[in-house]
Amino acid sequence: MSKSNSFFHNLIKPFKFSSSREGQNEDDIQNIAAQEQKIFPYETLVAATKNFHILNKLGEGGFGPVFKGKLNDGREIAVKKLSHRSSQGKTQFINEAKLLARVQHRNVVNLFGYCIHGSEKLLVYEYVPRESLDKLIFKSKKREEVDWKRRYEIIIGVARGLLYLHEDSHNCIIHRDIKASNILLDEKWVPKIADFGLARLFPENQTHVNTRVAGTNGYLAPEYLMHGHLSVKADVFSYGVLVLELISGQRNSSFDMDVNAQNLLDWAYKLYKKGRALEMVDPTLASSLVSEQAEMCIKLGLLCTQGDPQQRPTMGRVVVILSRKPGHMEEPARPGAPGSRYRRMPRRPFAMSSSGDVDDSDSHTSEFSTNYGTNTNSDTPTTSSNATAQVDHRGKRPMQV
Ligand SMILES: Nc1ncnc2c1ncn2[C@@H]1O[C@H](COP(=O)(O)OP(=O)(O)OP(=O)(O)O)[C@@H](O)[C@H]1O
Ligand SMILES: [Mg+2]
Repeated sequence: MSKSNSFFHNLIKPFKFSSSREGQNEDDIQNIAAQEQKIFPYETLVAATKNFHILNKLGEGGFGPVFKGKLNDGREIAVKKLSHRSSQGKTQFINEAKLLARVQHRNVVNLFGYCIHGSEKLLVYEYVPRESLDKLIFKSKKREEVDWKRRYEIIIGVARGLLYLHEDSHNCIIHRDIKASNILLDEKWVPKIADFGLARLFPENQTHVNTRVAGTNGYLAPEYLMHGHLSVKADVFSYGVLVLELISGQRNSSFDMDVNAQNLLDWAYKLYKKGRALEMVDPTLASSLVSEQAEMCIKLGLLCTQGDPQQRPTMGRVVVILSRKPGHMEEPARPGAPGSRYRRMPRRPFAMSSSGDVDDSDSHTSEFSTNYGTNTNSDTPTTSSNATAQVDHRGKRPMQV
């Protein structure tokens, strides 16, 4: 057989039926098609998770429970059962899930595929063995295992993954929910961003309220929370919070280290301005810390959490900053409080904090506009209603539509 003939032969081989094997071949073709389209039969997922057994439950977030499973071919998976409340149509869900399954990067969790079974929609991810960062760094006995070198590499890896989602994937994906529980660690401690693109699977124009989740308390950029103004800079803000959490081992959403500080960002900034930034470092890092790197990362975290999105770097710039020697960075002003008003207006003698209290603690940079409704984002639909939206027990905020 000539070379071209043999190529053609191989190409059509899977589609040639002999009458005796016809049924089996049809199955084969269906399997090949299923694999290419990344569709998982429901029965496969039932078997892999032992019928979604409670002992296999890894956790439950705002979108539904996640179960660990093992496929017949040995691959370990994490199956996310999306909440029934999504009103999205089947075709649209499949299209979006297919698109997301093409997203591939070392620092982004691999989406193996998806499954639709009656009203149930499921996403099938690679199982990432060390699970999520929140289980490791916040008051966990395991926090010592995540030494400075590992934390620094997580900071760099997450930045690279986010840059990919923002700029290098097939189209820009804004994550909207960057936080410690959405960063998973593999056996080599490589960080993987999870739950990217979930917002795409819950479209904005859907009619049900309380289904699409817009983010989590403590990580939400002020302009997004107050005005619904969404851009890649909302992810940069959440990334900045994550960096400061990684360094301190403290959750921003339940910060209680200093009564004089409103939150983790405020605490970090005050220490930074006093030249005592390293005091915020998690004590378990004492023996492994590289002070220069930590100081640089604190400054970076503050820069990423600036109240005005324009003052935050892009993820491209963050990656450049992290790849250089310390010292090549803009000076951060006081960060925006998550969910607070941010200043776009001329300064006023006094300013309102997010809680509505008068805040005169740092007149140099701390003023927030008391008239935020008149800024450039005031025409966006969600306005301040999100600020008072119902928050679930995990701090998730439902999106008002
Ligand atoms: N691919 C995965 N590999 C290993 N563990 C996972 C995987 N995906 C999720 N998990 C675990 O399951 C838990 C629940 O995940 P889930 O995403 O539902 O909750 P969450 O991240 O806390 O909230 P959110 O809905 O905002 O993402 C996570 O905390 C994580 O530890
Ligand atoms: Mg998650």
